Amino acid sequence: MKAIVRRALFVAGMGLVVIGASVGANAQAPAEIAQRQELMKANGGAMRTLTPMVRGEAPWNAQAAGQAAAKLQEDAVRAKALFPAGTGPDKGQTAALPAIWERKAEFDGMFDKQAQAAANLVRLASANDEAGFKAAFPAVGQTCGGCHTPFRKPN
Ligand code: HEC
Repeated sequence: MKAIVRRALFVAGMGLVVIGASVGANAQAPAEIAQRQELMKANGGAMRTLTPMVRGEAPWNAQAAGQAAAKLQEDAVRAKALFPAGTGPDKGQTAALPAIWERKAEFDGMFDKQAQAAANLVRLASANDEAGFKAAFPAVGQTCGGCHTPFRKPN
């Protein structure tokens, strides 16, 4: 009987150690990891606004299209600061691959491409150039996939 109780306490204690360790790891993870994941989610949100419009599954709305494109432009500029050295997969829960810090200039260049392609969409939306916007849209999507393939761990 005593042995069973001791064993149960031991198992419960080990559980607390494991929980303690994982809480500790998350608390110490650099803030940039959560910040960039939030930013990327917002990128996804902007694409979900634009894609149905471009496909003709939602009505063209120049104002909403311009806002979503502006968000993509702004995020591409902001994102560059959210991948400092020391925020890789050894530092927290992140899908960012170590290749980012081995080829940082190439990686940052892809955010520049996203910013440029998105700025072009902003311009087309403010001119209410629906056809031009739809023709230019794939260039933005390519910048997402173009970076995720080499630099993000697949799900
Ligand atoms: C220059 C590289 C780069 C570009 C450009 C880029 N991403 Fe990402 N994206 C990443 C990396 C790296 C991660 C993993 C971040 C992490 O886990 O720390 C990521 C993660 C994501 C995620 C998952 C976020 C989460 O954790 O839930 C989404 C969604 C996403 N990106 C959407 C987009 C969209 C949409 C675009 C284009 C408009 C885009 N990204 C452009 C590099 C990029």
